[in-house]
Amino acid sequence: MEKKFFITTPIYYATDAPHLGSAYTTTVADVVKRYWEKQNKNVFLITGTDEHGAKVAKAAQDKNEDEKKFVDEQAGKFKKAWNELNIGFDRFVRTTDSEHEDGVQEFCQTLYDKGWIEKGIYEGLYCEGCEAFIREKDLIDGKCPDHQAPPQKISEETYFFKLSDKKISEAVLSWANSAIFPVSRRNEVISFINSGLENIAISRKNVKWGITCPWDKDFTLYVWIDALLNYWTFADGNWPPDLQLIGKDILRFHCVIWPAMILAYYDFDKNKLPKKIFAHGFFTSGGQKMSKSLGNKIDPLEITKEYGVDPLRYYLLAVVPFGSDGDVSIDDFIAHYNADLANDLGNLIQRTLTMVEKFGYSQDIQDEALNALQKEIDNHFKNLEFSQLIEKIFALIRQQNVIIDKEKPWELFKNNPEKTKEILGLILRRLQFCADCLCPIMPEISQKIVNQTTFQSPKEPLFPKK
Ligand code: MSP
Repeated sequence: MEKKFFITTPIYYATDAPHLGSAYTTTVADVVKRYWEKQNKNVFLITGTDEHGAKVAKAAQDKNEDEKKFVDEQAGKFKKAWNELNIGFDRFVRTTDSEHEDGVQEFCQTLYDKGWIEKGIYEGLYCEGCEAFIREKDLIDGKCPDHQAPPQKISEETYFFKLSDKKISEAVLSWANSAIFPVSRRNEVISFINSGLENIAISRKNVKWGITCPWDKDFTLYVWIDALLNYWTFADGNWPPDLQLIGKDILRFHCVIWPAMILAYYDFDKNKLPKKIFAHGFFTSGGQKMSKSLGNKIDPLEITKEYGVDPLRYYLLAVVPFGSDGDVSIDDFIAHYNADLANDLGNLIQRTLTMVEKFGYSQDIQDEALNALQKEIDNHFKNLEFSQLIEKIFALIRQQNVIIDKEKPWELFKNNPEKTKEILGLILRRLQFCADCLCPIMPEISQKIVNQTTFQSPKEPLFPKK
């Protein structure tokens, strides 16, 4: 079977409910998938839940539930949310699937057999929120900056993966130079590697909720090793990944440890490494990190219930350049909904169709300028520059409103019906072009625009004013 274009998202901790942040990465993945499918590429997209480790076990305990029952419920919430957001994932990853557990054991046993793993003692800090071994120098006021909590001090026997091996850092560096995006994140990874890599612990002694270490049953495998390997165990013949989307918070795991594991497993075969990893920025809400304790997490389904799915997908991609941080809020979503969608786009469609009904339109109008614009839009899609491409499409939409205001077809028609029909034909053509470009982002709305502007379905408002 031919390898498909393989896209991954992070697998989300089964502790939380899906929120605007997790919806962001997942929606982008779906947009990229739809874009490539439109170019007749076969795409394979996976997303899912990260279900092992101390953090998940504690969340289950807090609810007085058995771990498996708890993660079953949580995975169900994610699946439901992604279905509602119209995400076309091909496989839903769950790290408690027995196939995954077997694959992880096989992978790690191979690393062990190849001499990449050695026993030792980890003495240091551990942040359960990050599920990460962290260093004193990463703390701010004694706390993990991401979780605002002091880490645990642990001292335990463990197995280390030899990340400090010189051959590994050289190979990861050379891969990083072409695979990590945006370049600012690539530079961050390069300077981290240049500062010297240390061996990393890949097992836990006192965490029972995990995959058993195959060569020593007293240990479970560290949850990040288990989680990263989902991309490999669920690849379904499509290895290596063509695009891995992540948030900037998990850059080091994905851009240092992950390629190192693959290099060790495949004896430094560079062709087995992921082709591209893109780390996007973070949404804040009300200027602050979204967190349970601040109560400022935004539930995407609250928005879609009222406004529909496509407007939310549009907002997520339009609001900040992909790669940058930005603030989001329901009020800001509503402002974009009203200004861009209801006013600029929605009104344009309605007024154009009303005039076409009255005055007619010229068929087969061509607009050469659209060919050049199409190329620009394609490049933006390929480079994941969503806000830039949206800006160009909406500039075209706004320009059509200006043309109508200036030409006043309802007056022009009295003296020059031919020119009126040409103008309306041209605007219809451009609207169809915009719908076609927006289709990966707003699949349902775009289809409706196509149907209405080709008179296959009656005129009806697409974005009721709220
Ligand atoms: N389980 C790990 C990932 C393992 S992947 C092998 C994890 N899970 S998470 O639930 O914390 O999700 C992290 C990812 O969610 C981020 O990398 C990012 O893709 C997305 N986001 C979570 N909060 C976000 C924002 N506030 N803004 C943007 N994206 C965010 O880490």
